[in-house]
Amino acid sequence: MTIPEVNWSKHIAPLIARHCQECHRLGDVAPFALETYEDARKRAKQIAQVTARKFMPPWKASQPVSVFQHERRLSAAEISLFARWAALGAPRGGDWTNSRTPVEPPPPDLVATMPKPFEIPADGPDLYQCIAIPVPLKQNRWVRALDFRPGNRRVVHHALVFAGKPDQAVYPCFGAPGFLPARGLGGWSPGNRLSEFPAGTAALLPAGSQIVLQIHYHPSGRSETDQSSVALYFADERPSRTLMDIALGSNEIDIPAGEARYQVRDHFTLPVDVELLGVIPHMHYVGQAIRGIATTPQGVRLLIQIDDWDFNWQDRYWYSKPVRLPAGTKVEATFTYDNSTANVRNPSNPPKRVTWGFGVNDEMAGLHLQVAAVRPEDAAELGQALWGKMMRTFRPLR
Ligand code: HEC
Repeated sequence: MTIPEVNWSKHIAPLIARHCQECHRLGDVAPFALETYEDARKRAKQIAQVTARKFMPPWKASQPVSVFQHERRLSAAEISLFARWAALGAPRGGDWTNSRTPVEPPPPDLVATMPKPFEIPADGPDLYQCIAIPVPLKQNRWVRALDFRPGNRRVVHHALVFAGKPDQAVYPCFGAPGFLPARGLGGWSPGNRLSEFPAGTAALLPAGSQIVLQIHYHPSGRSETDQSSVALYFADERPSRTLMDIALGSNEIDIPAGEARYQVRDHFTLPVDVELLGVIPHMHYVGQAIRGIATTPQGVRLLIQIDDWDFNWQDRYWYSKPVRLPAGTKVEATFTYDNSTANVRNPSNPPKRVTWGFGVNDEMAGLHLQVAAVRPEDAAELGQALWGKMMRTFRPLR
């Protein structure tokens, strides 16, 4: 049997443009560009391997109840095209010009830019920095989308965006921004573009608050500066649905040094019918897996599963179609940690005891279910139940 011809111009270039170039282009996060035939030809075997292993494109969540928006996944047919192309010796075919014009986001309502450049030394540990940006807001606004724009992609590793009023303008912080109340507006990791709230929802940006960027900087070997910004898009009116956060998690974390499979769990029973719109998982570096399930009268449904947790690829996962969960559903989260030397992301070698906290060497457990009550009048009852849950779950630390 002859293998049908697979060549660069007809098959491979369009696939790479669609699935790889958002990161594999000059000046972006990936270690090399995949823009020309030559770029791809010399790595054809490696490309076949990383796509077959599903290491590339990076995508952490496995198949849940409903697909997520913006999934970075190749189909089995696409993976086999890469494999056949490599096996044939990476034939070129004709010329290829990229006809995909990058989609530019529409003009934003406000762009908040770091007031001063931040200096990142040539080497040393990674820096986790909070930088407050005063914004001229005299009235409450509803943020429906944001677009984080890294100032210097060589050093900006990932970023989270909050609204609130910190005491300082520039200070070290990790995981959480270190002030209350802090409203999470979104995040950015390489390859992300516009971060949007689901239709009909938005996050409140109260008058007088500041925008706080929490940026993870990774020294590049040269001294660098960064001045990132974030573009905000406001909703014209108050959103029709209130997004509520079911925070499954625990602060009772105490992982012995060397423990390879430590788990904490949490659960909550829904008092009213909700639509689950998305999930936001959170752990630090010894976190290894997160699993969220819902037990409904119809049976168990998988909400999200990440088996290879990576702090640096934190995402907000929005479902393409909301997941309806009736009153009485039990939602549960399981967090698994590997504090042994087998965990290549373990910041301590040899491993040290790890407890709950906000630091790089501490751990957290969070699975934030983003829901809206099916009947708007049920929101108050859900709010009450969530308040009660929070008081039970987060016991004062000893
Ligand atoms: C969201 C960003 C992103 C996308 C999309 C992406 N890559 Fe990557 N790629 C990276 C980063 C970052 C690295 C470096 C990974 C590391 O060192 O852990 C990388 C590394 C690689 C490597 C080297 C792997 C190794 O073992 O050193 C190959 C080959 C590769 N990517 C191919 C691809 C292909 C083919 C696609 C599309 C099908 C793709 N990538 C899509 C970000 C991306």
